[in-house]
This record gives sequence, structure tokens and C-alpha cells, in this order.
Amino acid sequence: MSFAWWQKGVIYQIYPRSFQDTNGDGVGDLEGVRRRLDYLVWLGVDAIWLSPFYPSPMHDFGYDVADYCNVDPLFGSLAAFDALLSEAHQRGLKVILDFVPNHTSNAHPWFLASKRSQNDPKRDWYIWRDAAQDGGPPNNWVSHFGGSGWTWDEATRQYYYHAFLPEQPDLNWRNPQVRAAMHEVLRFWLRRGVDGFRVDVISHLIKDAAFRDNPVNPGWTGNGPDIIRFKQTFSSDQPEVHEVIAGLRQVVEEFEDRLLIGEIYLPLDRLVAYYGDNLKGAHLPFNFQLLDADWNAAGIARLIGNYEAALPKGAWPNWVLSNHDRPRVAARVGAEQSRVATMLLLTLRGTPTLFYGDEIGIGHVEVPPERFQDPWAKREPGLGVGRDPSRTPMQWDASVFAGFSTREPWLPLTADHETRNVSTMSGDETSILALARKLLCFRREHAAVNCGAWRLLSSDDDVLAYERRSENERVCVALNFSNTTKRWRSAMCESATIVLSTLGDRVNEPVGSDVLLRANEGVLIQ
Ligand code: NOJ
Repeated sequence: MSFAWWQKGVIYQIYPRSFQDTNGDGVGDLEGVRRRLDYLVWLGVDAIWLSPFYPSPMHDFGYDVADYCNVDPLFGSLAAFDALLSEAHQRGLKVILDFVPNHTSNAHPWFLASKRSQNDPKRDWYIWRDAAQDGGPPNNWVSHFGGSGWTWDEATRQYYYHAFLPEQPDLNWRNPQVRAAMHEVLRFWLRRGVDGFRVDVISHLIKDAAFRDNPVNPGWTGNGPDIIRFKQTFSSDQPEVHEVIAGLRQVVEEFEDRLLIGEIYLPLDRLVAYYGDNLKGAHLPFNFQLLDADWNAAGIARLIGNYEAALPKGAWPNWVLSNHDRPRVAARVGAEQSRVATMLLLTLRGTPTLFYGDEIGIGHVEVPPERFQDPWAKREPGLGVGRDPSRTPMQWDASVFAGFSTREPWLPLTADHETRNVSTMSGDETSILALARKLLCFRREHAAVNCGAWRLLSSDDDVLAYERRSENERVCVALNFSNTTKRWRSAMCESATIVLSTLGDRVNEPVGSDVLLRANEGVLIQ
């Protein structure tokens, strides 16, 4: 059986604003990514996914795109992108772009045309509706960032819909011209040589044709962000979306060996539908279950088992521990358990996505209110929805701005950045960075881990153990989710050897009839 690069490989997410600044403005750029390619090779990842770098007014930090086929001067130029792409490829690294098809910026020429008049040929490219009888919005749909999802345009006397900011009007994907134009955007980058796309909020692309009101969320307690007041029954995950995604997939298939990932936050049964009929949807519908999971062995074991069982035949799994929208894994589970989590991520069956900075264990970074950047944090203050703490700069060395920039970065560094950085930690065999690197190396070298089968060995509240097996080899993983020592009994590991501990100090240790796991320790056994 042969596997594609994106099945065996590990994806590394880069938030370009926060990876490496090279022009001294406190914000990262594409040239910075290029200069750090050797680090990524050293670390041992296979592909990078770049969050948006397109021209944008940056109301949502690039998720408001004003030109899909160019580079914002803040990040560089098309030439800088081409240099990055070609040097990545020279090093055997694949490059995945963020494609944001649900909405454009309100500064996009398409929207400027669309709002010119009700008769403009581009009017129907966006979602315009008359006011309700009382003059209010056409329905009760709310924006993900708070407030109504509808904004009134006085000049043309209609509302337009935006699932996110008013500066991010939703495109009308029922319009064939929109589809054709967006397919051309994909081809623009595919011809340039990119290896795939992560598609932003892919499940949002089609809305209910009748624009029915969303039902009230029965679980709503009166607290929390606006978006949870209603179930998104009619504003997302509509049956017709799958045909649109099949269209995107077809375009990707015009080119060899390219990848389509979908960003989807849905319950498992609805998530797996995004593999599409006959697996002609997204290659990888992002599996975000670990982002919200209660951190105990039994629960995680159930989650993995249920996911494996729900996958359509032939569908390839994938796992995500952190991203730029959710609290980092170390902020959620703590520094000790984040090592266990890293071993989990890199030894499960399916493609892992590693978020920049998780390999050095960046945890929660306190961002004072006066430094808030995230529009969501500003629109719904006091609810803790801000995403800035997950987007802080990568920390490269012990210098004053951590080698990220020559001036104060756009977001703060961690309080311990003088020790929590690549340069310091790469010299410490027991650091989480050394662990991540060893795991990535082990994964690459062992078919059992990068493409073998997964089987649960045992689980209780504290210890999760599973096996990965290929034709010729078998690897066991035992993870202690508790902060006390545990004895894990496994006859099947007898005469095997511990090859790696999350604590960095057990190598080639023979395994008896049971394994002693120290507090917060995970081991690889072979
Ligand atoms: C999901 C992206 O990951 C998030 O950062 C963004 O704000 C929304 N989609 C809107 O594009």
C-alpha cells in the first residue's frame, strides 16, 4: 500500500505575523519564514501551512482578504513568496496556503462593485436581503464575533450578511460566477506550485436558501459570546455545501499530489461527512476534538476510538492540538501534560498538525487589555474569547525580543522567554523541544507510527496505552495523564524496550511485565 506525502507527513502551522520579523516592524513576514526553513527541517516536519498573507486591511489579521492573488506589503511580495516556496521545496518541505472563500474583505473590489447598486452585475456575488418588516435585519443570525450578522447599507437600502466582522462580507457561493472566480484563485496558486490549501470555515460556504431563523440554543445559560445563543442550524453545514467542496476538490485534482484540508468545527457524525461522497470532499476535514477534550486517559481513549470508528472506509484521520483560534495546549493542560499531549499527537494514526511554538511549550501569555489586538476580544470584552494569547511571537533565542524582531513585537512574549526559546532549549536533551524533535524523527523512521494501524491496549482514568503496528514492526505508547506514579501492566510489551520518554531520560530500558510511569510521563516502547 502506498501513502501520499500528506498522510505520512506532519504539518506545521505558521502564523506569519508571529514567526520571524526581518524588517524591524514588530510583525513577522514571509522572508522571516524563508530564513527559518532550516529550523523546520532540523525539527523534522514535512509541510508548512501559512495563515493568510494576502493584501488585507487586517481587521481580522488577514482573514479579510482584499486580493486573493497577491501578498500584503506587510508580509513581503509575490517574489518573496516565490523565494520561500522554491527554497521550501528544495528542502523537501511542502507548502500549504490558507484559502478564505467564505468571505472577502469589504475592501475587495468585488464587494465595492457589489455595493455600488442593487443592479450591479456583482450584486449577487454577496448576500444582500431586504430588511424585515420592522426594518430590522432579515433574520436572527448572529456574527461569530458578536452582534447581528447583518449590516445595513444605507446607500442601496439592503442588508448584507457577514458571518464574522461587518468588514468580512460573505460571498454567495450559490452564484456560479463566484465559484468560477474562486476556482481561478486556487489555480493561480496551484500553478505557482503550492501543495495544498487549508480552507477557512469550509462548512459555512452555503446558507439556507430560505434564510430561516436559527433556533435558540437550549443549552444557552445567558452567559458567553453571542454566537452560542443560537444553534447554527441554517447558517452553516447545509447539505448543498458538499457539492461546492467537491468542486474545490476537482480543481485541486487538476494538479498532481495536492491537498485539501477543511476547517470544520462540528460534531463527529457531521464532521466525517466532509470527506465527501466517495471521499471526493476534503482529504482532511480538520479533527479538532482534542481542542475541547477533558484531559483524562479514559475520555481521550473513547474519543480516539469513536473517531476511528466513525471514519468512512479509506478516509485518512488527522489530529490537531492547538491553533491560532484556541488556547494553546500548554495553556489548557499545563506544562507537564503538554509533553504527554505532544507524544499523543505525534503517535496517533493520521496526519498531525503541530502549531508553531507548541514545540517549545509556549503556554498562556497574559495580554494586557491595552494591547488587545483580536477584534473578537474588542467586540465582546470580558468574556475571555480573545485569541491573542495563542498568537504571540515565536521565541528563537535569549535576546531581548527573543530573536523574533529588533523592536517590541505586536504581541508580548512569554514571561520566561529568556529560557523558553529554540536556542536555549535545543541544547537541553530534556526539553520539550528535544522531545518534539525526537518524536518527529521517530515518526518519520517508523512505518508503524507514520502509517500503521492503531489499537487500544488499555485505558483507565490515568493511563492510556495503545499500539501502532505495520507489517514489520510494532510500537507501543503508554501515557500517564496523572501527576502521580502509575504502574502499567502489559504482558504484550515484555522483552521490548523503552526507546523514548517524554521526560527525556529513559533510553534503551528493557521492559518487564509492567512499566513504571512517573508522574506526567509518556513512553514509547519498541
Ligand atoms: C477561522 C479562522 O481560523 C479565524 O482566525 C478567522 O477569524 C475566521 N475563520 C474568519 O475567517
